[in-house]
Amino acid sequence: MAIEDKIKQLVENREKAKLGGGQKRIDSQHAKGKFTARERIELLLDEGSFEEYDMFVVHHSTDFGLDKQKYLSDGVVTGHGTIDGRVIYVFAQDFTVFGGSLSETFAKKICKVMDQAMKVGAPVIGLNDSGGARIQEGVQSLAGYAEIFQRNIMASGVIPQLSAIFGPCAGGAVYSPALTDFIVMSEKSSYMFVTGPKVVKTVTGEDITSEDLGGAMVHASKSGVTHFVSETEEEGIMLLRKLLTYLPQNNLEEPPVTFCDDPIDRLEDALNNIIPENPNKPYDIKDVIEMIVDRSEYLEVQRHYAPNIVTAFAKFNGMPVGIIGNQPNYLAGVLDINASRKAARYIRFCDAFNIPIITLVDVPGFLPGSIQEYGGIIIHGAKLLFAYGEATVPKITITLRKSYGGAHDVMSSKQLRGDINYAWPSAEIAVMGAQGAIEVLYNKDISSIENEDEKEKFAIKKEKEYKEKFANPYQAASYGFIDDIIEPRNTRFRIIRGLQTLATKKDSNPPKKHSNIPL
Ligand code: HXC
Repeated sequence: MAIEDKIKQLVENREKAKLGGGQKRIDSQHAKGKFTARERIELLLDEGSFEEYDMFVVHHSTDFGLDKQKYLSDGVVTGHGTIDGRVIYVFAQDFTVFGGSLSETFAKKICKVMDQAMKVGAPVIGLNDSGGARIQEGVQSLAGYAEIFQRNIMASGVIPQLSAIFGPCAGGAVYSPALTDFIVMSEKSSYMFVTGPKVVKTVTGEDITSEDLGGAMVHASKSGVTHFVSETEEEGIMLLRKLLTYLPQNNLEEPPVTFCDDPIDRLEDALNNIIPENPNKPYDIKDVIEMIVDRSEYLEVQRHYAPNIVTAFAKFNGMPVGIIGNQPNYLAGVLDINASRKAARYIRFCDAFNIPIITLVDVPGFLPGSIQEYGGIIIHGAKLLFAYGEATVPKITITLRKSYGGAHDVMSSKQLRGDINYAWPSAEIAVMGAQGAIEVLYNKDISSIENEDEKEKFAIKKEKEYKEKFANPYQAASYGFIDDIIEPRNTRFRIIRGLQTLATKKDSNPPKKHSNIPL
């Protein structure tokens, strides 16, 4: 065959591979409002940067007539490209080929890009749209999943691993994303479940739709499995690109610093008045975040889950940080099981990837009660405590208002190796709030007073005394637990100067195989 004919054959083969499971199935994918695997990769990567691997791979199965059904690429498109000029490895499952189900060869293709990403030190993005293990292959498919899982585990904390869910992901298809750092789900067309509605009905008798069982909002607000929800696939892909702007390529690199045109000494007068006179009145911690970060831009993580704590990526003078803030606007910003789990995992991600942690404290304590105790608030709260204490990245803590009891210790206190701990003049750092403290300390005295007016007067007087002594930052500052009391409007500048100073910080934990975080 002449070289011209060989090249023609190559081009034809490439065109064939690009059709995946065929035009009919591509049309059906489009009719569902979904993109194909290759279209998703085009949207994700810088234009013209995609280099595909293993386009000519086919499965080697013969059972169930599979020998007569072979599709070039075998249901997953893999390779590398760039995002904002930085190298990224990618795989995109192709639902038009056996429902994106995973075969032995399919798994090998994913493992190949994961292995290379580890050697190169570049993130891996998986675009998932899969019916799980390819049923016709049996154990080979299960083994293929386990090969991927093992790589997800080894890559954890070494390179960022991001997942998008753009279809009905079932069975094994959900566990690899669960092992990655962040998951994005698109609304209406994506589901995640270990077993789908049909199996649920058979096994438990429960009648439930795909949406109610494993839709994007279910996983965003109830299970906490997904970190982001997008209205469309396109928006989800843009979100992945945005997320990467805060992340280093790997754990040995610093996160990317970008040019910042927002003045570092910008004063925000409104911050001086943001804390309400009445300590029981809420305000929105996100207003504070908006006022202090570069250009008021931040990317909130797990927005719909445990809103009593806010976790978000942002930049200060172009330097990426992770922000953890108690949210007085929701359950008074109390720490509960879900908030503790959410923030602990986020802190561990930031610490693994050299992203400094900024903590904004306004916390009345841990949520009391049997529901929380039975659910294991002790062990879950300990996760947050552990994560803060273990983190060695620069840690800057600003106490805005309440910082009571155990929650004070947990929220990046000085003794948990907080590098810089500032407080606003409105801070109240104490074992508990004034009202509770007076009830405990003066219970007998109060009950012995018969006249109701006298009783109230006595309680008010004692509360006033307590507040003067404890409901302020000065007692903590007098011990050096607070490094300085700062003017709220100057918070942005003080954080930026802190980050600049701490840029060369070095700290470490004792040598060990790994810690035993209370899981
Ligand atoms: C082989 C599969 C498949 C699978 C779907 N297909 N799932 N082929 N193995 N697991 C094929 C279908 O036969 C069909 O082929 C095409 O993909 C599209 O599937 P539909 O059912 O027509 O699509 P839809 O109605 O959108 O439903 C999608 C779905 C459903 C929800 C994913 O197909 C489904 O429930 N599949 C099975 C899910 C599952 O139980 N997987 C195994 C999990 S066990 P044609 O030729 O018609 O286009 C598992 C173990 C791993 O994963 C555990 C590791 C820890």
